[in-house]
Amino acid sequence: MNKKNLDQEPVSQAKHQNKQADEVIVIAVDGPTAAGKGTIARKLAQHLGFACLDTGLLYRAVAVKALENKINWEVGQAISLSTIARKLTPLDLSHPALRDEIIGRGASIIAAIPEVRSALLDFQRRFHLLGKPVKGVVLDGRDIGTVVYPDAHLKLFITASQQVRAERRYKELLNRGLPVIYAQVLLDVQERDNRDQKRSSAPLIPATDAIIIDSSSLNADQVLAIALQHVQKKLGLP
Ligand code: CDP
Repeated sequence: MNKKNLDQEPVSQAKHQNKQADEVIVIAVDGPTAAGKGTIARKLAQHLGFACLDTGLLYRAVAVKALENKINWEVGQAISLSTIARKLTPLDLSHPALRDEIIGRGASIIAAIPEVRSALLDFQRRFHLLGKPVKGVVLDGRDIGTVVYPDAHLKLFITASQQVRAERRYKELLNRGLPVIYAQVLLDVQERDNRDQKRSSAPLIPATDAIIIDSSSLNADQVLAIALQHVQKKLGLP
């Protein structure tokens, strides 16, 4: 399959798959690294009684398995990595190594491989069918509103300046007891943004109908309050 076909495949598949998801409400929460999407997605899901999927964990889980199987993600390996991606199960999303720094870096590299992205679509679109029946799902990631669910009922794009995101990540790592240097964290955020925005397959970009929330000067509760206003306005949910 050439690149053009791979890039086009997600949208047409999504339209088809969205028919299956008709009964569930889909909220997409996209944005760059360390913007606080995960917190907002979890709180929104909790408030609404929806299921929640942190789609970054899927790319991280592929990295964990690649490392276990000594597959070097620095040199392509699209076939082996997409085979791993296709076989992921919900159990793989609770591996203790998922949050390791080396896994985060690997996930960022692996996420640029179109075959891996394509292989992970099915999991993301069938996630609402995996557990007990739910009224809705919140998925957080980079391409939920553009590729995974272009017809999502509500699309939020949470962002913040690179400096603010680097400070948040720095504090988070310090709290985890890791020896970190702010300048290094800022460089890492810049590098991840660069990779997310420049990749040819599903680059990080807000969907044209996404609501953009700049959280640079807001705390998590303030962002949640804004998100809930949009949930009420767009979906009529309390
Ligand atoms: O730690 P960070 O917030 O950067 O990452 P994450 O949300 O845990 O996701 C891990 C990696 O997967 C990121 O570097 C993204 O490049 C990638 N990703 C993606 O490409 N598409 C998604 N829907 C989710 C994550």
